Amino acid sequence: MIVAHTFLAARRALAGTVGMVPTMGYLHEGHLACATAVRATSDCVVMSIFVNPLQFNDPSDLARYPRSWDRDLALAERTGVDVVFAPSVEEMYPEPPLTRVTVSGVTEGMEGARRPGHFDGVATIVAKLFAGIRPDSAAFGRKDAQQLAVVKRLVHDLNFPVAIVEVSTVREADGLALSSRNVFIANRKAALGLSRGLFLAADSAGAGERSGRTLEEIAGRTASRAGAVVEYAELADARTARRIPTLDRVAFLAIAARAGEVRLIDNVVLEPDGTADRGTRLDGPSILGGS
Ligand code: PAF
Repeated sequence: MIVAHTFLAARRALAGTVGMVPTMGYLHEGHLACATAVRATSDCVVMSIFVNPLQFNDPSDLARYPRSWDRDLALAERTGVDVVFAPSVEEMYPEPPLTRVTVSGVTEGMEGARRPGHFDGVATIVAKLFAGIRPDSAAFGRKDAQQLAVVKRLVHDLNFPVAIVEVSTVREADGLALSSRNVFIANRKAALGLSRGLFLAADSAGAGERSGRTLEEIAGRTASRAGAVVEYAELADARTARRIPTLDRVAFLAIAARAGEVRLIDNVVLEPDGTADRGTRLDGPSILGGS
């Protein structure tokens, strides 16, 4: 496995069809599932590891974002990643960028409304990675459903010749969605309320419920009862990320809540016939050292 710290070195290390996995490090099985997903169609797999300051609207959140360089390299290598692209902030942003990418519409609700500037930072870094690495495909987790909608729209609007591969959320055996931030969870019962609520709502959709408000209430109420402080529970169109009143298209039911000090997000993808992608479950503890 080659470790490249500049765009030039990364491009030189790549050959044939390139599959990319953009990450901010502190890898878990969700990231590894993304690498496995692009491996199938790529000669070369490149994983970027870069904690992108541009997408943090809260400097203290950036400062405490977990990092684990040696562990990340070992996991990437074990998963068959060919090239790790780990630029410095100076390589990525030699000067404060005067060009930023804004995807409107898709970014207005949910995370976009609560984290001003966050999706501009995500869209800008993804555009830079796609322009500098020029992958043929790139994998993103469904766990960040709104981010996925933003990236798909960015690729569509700017004609990036990159196939976006969607990877189902990976969960711990008890249902908790994997996230690098899970390392901060002190109140696991409250954290589990998010997935419990989503699964109950998905059961209800499977039994015929189509009202967005009812599905949202089931998810939100269940999470609150577990002790989570719910910011929102919303049924949104999977393509536009806009709230919809009825489950009549491919959608995601998203929830954001605080479990103690940690802010968590999760979702289930729902089809109009009520079937759901609830993600896949690990059968043992996560490499993050969870349950
Ligand atoms: O999902 C993430 O880890 C980040 O938002 C991404 C896509 C790597 C951009 O920094």
